[in-house]
Amino acid sequence: MSALLIETIAELRGQAAPARRSELAIGFVPTMGALHAGHARLIERARSQCGCVVVSIFVNPLQFDRADDLERYPRTRASDLDLCRSLGVDIVFAPAVGEMYPGEPSCLVQVGRLGDHLCGRFRPGHFSGVATVVLKLFEIVQPDTAFFGEKDAQQLAVIRRLVRDFNIPVHIEGVETVREADGLALSSRNRGLNLEERRLAVSLYDALCDARERITGGASDPAAVKAAAAARIPADERLRLEYLEIVDPVEIQPVETIAGRVLVAGALWVGSTRLIDNVICDPPAHHST
Ligand code: PAF
Repeated sequence: MSALLIETIAELRGQAAPARRSELAIGFVPTMGALHAGHARLIERARSQCGCVVVSIFVNPLQFDRADDLERYPRTRASDLDLCRSLGVDIVFAPAVGEMYPGEPSCLVQVGRLGDHLCGRFRPGHFSGVATVVLKLFEIVQPDTAFFGEKDAQQLAVIRRLVRDFNIPVHIEGVETVREADGLALSSRNRGLNLEERRLAVSLYDALCDARERITGGASDPAAVKAAAAARIPADERLRLEYLEIVDPVEIQPVETIAGRVLVAGALWVGSTRLIDNVICDPPAHHST
């Protein structure tokens, strides 16, 4: 069956109603398009668990802190639709900005301390914009389960808290990061890298792996781990490490000592492209339940 492209909220509600009446579980994959194998994995996971799969494609202006970044964000509608069709998506919801925001919204979700560190520190208003659009999309699609990539670990933590704080009856499922053969995490932003930048880009993952090796080996001082990991980023004028932090994976607050599971996350500018990535690390004595 080919995916149905829907551009209005009213039509989406009408199309999702029969699935709901037949008690098909609705699986939802929110995206900003420029779909790649990481998105494909989210969609496949949704397909394997749910009777009806909805993918949204919407470049959300509210979560961009820079106008040039919003403008430059890749838009690849035709190939996105092809991928959705090939993966058996039932509905692609691709509204225009005016459909989602007919006027300047006056109610926004405030994210609090979950947004104080990592990307939240460098992208003012970003997580408020993400949480606001995701809340709107949940209201529109009313999914049973929504699927988000673990590459955006802080975003995933914010969404998990959003559904808890607002009692939204949606199960949130995190899906593991898909990587290139050399370890670079797949991202729509990778399209902005030229060949030389692509070669340099993997140094972020190298730094994160260095941190993980130290932590699993017993290192407990975050400052020392961060310094050693950051040293893995080559001195090159095209590279600028925006942050490399070690935080607790639920509250996204920096840890003073590494005594349990931690999230090591970084953001690296490669030329004019900003990449993020993270790894989860367990110290030797820690057994996850
Ligand atoms: O991860 C993304 O692509 C976006 O932040 C999301 C969740 C679709 C909200 O716009």
